[in-house]
Amino acid sequence: MPRKILVTNALPYANGDIHLGHLVGYIQGDIWVRYQRMRGNTVHYVCADDTHGTPVMLRAEKEGITPEALIGRVHGEHLRDFTDFGVAFDNYHSTHSAENRAYAEDVYTKLQAAELIDTRAIEQFYDPVKEMFLPDRFIKGECPKCGAADQYGDNCEVCGAAYAPTELKNPHSAVSGAKPVLKTSEHYFFRLSDPRAVAFLREWTRGTNAAGTRRLQAEAANKMKEWLGDESVGDGGNTLSDWDISRDAPYFGFEIPGAPGKYFYVWLDAPIGYLASFRNLAERRGDIAVDEFTDAVRAETAGTEMVHFIGKDILYFHALFWPAMLRFAGYRTPTQLCVNGFLTVDGAKMSKSRGTFITARSYVSQGLNPEWLRYYFATKSNGTMEDVDLSLDDMVAKVNSDLVGKYVNIASRCAGFIAKRFDGRLGAHDPQATADFEAAFAAGTIAHAYEERDYGRALREIMRLADLANQYVNDHKPWELAKQEGQEARLHVVCSTALTHFRDLTLYLKPVLPALAEKVEAFLAIDPLVWPQTWQPLPTAHAINPYAHLMTRVERKQIDALLDANRESLAPAAPAAKVASSQQRHAEKQQHEAQSAETAMPHISIDDFTKVDLRIARIVGAEHVEGADKLIRLQLDIGETENGQTKLRQVFAGIKSAYDPATLVGRLTVMVVNLAPRKMKFGVSEGMVLAASDADDKGAGIYILTPDSGAASGMRVK
Ligand code: MSP
Ligand code: ZN
Repeated sequence: MPRKILVTNALPYANGDIHLGHLVGYIQGDIWVRYQRMRGNTVHYVCADDTHGTPVMLRAEKEGITPEALIGRVHGEHLRDFTDFGVAFDNYHSTHSAENRAYAEDVYTKLQAAELIDTRAIEQFYDPVKEMFLPDRFIKGECPKCGAADQYGDNCEVCGAAYAPTELKNPHSAVSGAKPVLKTSEHYFFRLSDPRAVAFLREWTRGTNAAGTRRLQAEAANKMKEWLGDESVGDGGNTLSDWDISRDAPYFGFEIPGAPGKYFYVWLDAPIGYLASFRNLAERRGDIAVDEFTDAVRAETAGTEMVHFIGKDILYFHALFWPAMLRFAGYRTPTQLCVNGFLTVDGAKMSKSRGTFITARSYVSQGLNPEWLRYYFATKSNGTMEDVDLSLDDMVAKVNSDLVGKYVNIASRCAGFIAKRFDGRLGAHDPQATADFEAAFAAGTIAHAYEERDYGRALREIMRLADLANQYVNDHKPWELAKQEGQEARLHVVCSTALTHFRDLTLYLKPVLPALAEKVEAFLAIDPLVWPQTWQPLPTAHAINPYAHLMTRVERKQIDALLDANRESLAPAAPAAKVASSQQRHAEKQQHEAQSAETAMPHISIDDFTKVDLRIARIVGAEHVEGADKLIRLQLDIGETENGQTKLRQVFAGIKSAYDPATLVGRLTVMVVNLAPRKMKFGVSEGMVLAASDADDKGAGIYILTPDSGAASGMRVK
């Protein structure tokens, strides 16, 4: 029996661009959907923009447009980004839609009927100028722990402390600058602390679905245990509190029925947007029984599934609030959450100053092939919540060696002979040489790995087969057979066998590389590949088309250009307008602890300091140093002349991991000019440039210093 699955990806906020971090989860979801369809399962794959909330409202105001106009524009941008990366939703809807309002009201009314909605008065910061309550992220002030200025209302980016906005010293509204005042208003709560909700969630988070698969990955289930406690000990250690689901006007969202001036909090109607998008799809299509996927009873009988792909920062919403909302409103609950880790680039958090905060749009407009990224992300996906590192050099190497060197190479070496010598028709295959492929198919390793979202394992197995296919071509050397007399038949078999290998590899790669697979299907003149029941070679006498170019190599310089296009000034990047996950906060805290330990150095006198001759230097030359993996050779102008000519200083700086030499030329920085010259393997280094980095010189990266504008080479720094 084919499965019937409703698959969703998290709904991206309508107040920002899609970046490569987002794409990790979307690409993982899309691969799974494509795989399921190739298996003959019915999949409805939906997403939408998450449009509501204060940030969207304020941003629209700033741009002088209505929120509707803003979300309309962003909807187009997001959809185009996903389409360009082959993420092919059946429907890309919006949470600001009639369907979503209807579902949100229905869920709310049913929760009310189940006596799970409460109201109570709460005191919150209010901006008296702007006349609105302020979300934590729109309140700034001094950190109550370390005193750092300009910190957000929920946590300090300097010391990592988490606190309530009311604890900030000298708080001000980030919207108007006014001093916020405390004001009381009535809020609506979803009573998650109700014993029914706690009991349900304990069962749900631990359980398996009808297919016997765990609803949550092991790490996610452990997190839930932390949050939900364990009923075997005392009060169960349950820490769930009721969830505040209302916000006061002005707010961009849906007004709560029967509560004028009160709006549903964005996170209430966001996941409901999954259902809204699905209903909208069903209404357009006319052949989908919505209730079979959404109604608790009907879904159970129909055996349908509902699978959510999300990032780890929003697990809490999807594993607690969402299933509880559904359960107590009579809807079906999710069968599976597929949670992905966060993206790092070259081992560090995405950074605007390093150019690694890469938007989907810039990637496409720089002419990079989206399937390179799909492939690389797939090799790094293992079905767990671990973070995924985009190592740029590794991506270049893997794409070139696996896809171009191994996979495409098989076809390009054999196709020409079929066209020229055999009128484009295949011959018999060599059963001995295809036995490994037949066995691999029967073993089902690749299929299993796809099912479990361990795409890395699937691709390792696929590349093992690609190695076998290349070995076969190398062993039989069609280019030599072609020159030998009487080897015509052999040549025909060898090329046909290799192309059958190639067809198998294409089948397996298709969920990851759909566009490439389509080109191959056209070249091989075959029907769209689906997972077959049994393994079959390409048929004898089958006519194929002339080979057309399939994929180009990726060059490191294309990646460098991409980084340049995304690099913002070297001023510290504005903190992301989003709450950092607790793990992130933890990591940052550790990093800051390491830094403060490092700063604990003995005092020096001013005389000690003035011994260091610091000068503004202009970088007039920068190049890689052959044989050195950390160094860039800099030529620096510090205003010195010799015989009327500018005299340059040469410095070897260990900044190669962070900078492309080309982007350094012309920049001003700070140089220590009276450091004793040092003879190195590559030449003499006549000083040092100043750069910031964290304690162990990795993680957060390296940042060379830049003076304020107006400074000129040779100026003394003191
Ligand atoms: N709007 C919410 C989701 C609502 S779902 C009912 C949201 N939006 S988001 O735009 O911030 O993120 C969209 C998805 O991208 C989420 O799954 C999030 O976890 C994921 N990611 C955002 N940044 C990411 C990385 N840097 N790395 C990996 N995934 C990331 O959250
Ligand atoms: Zn602090």
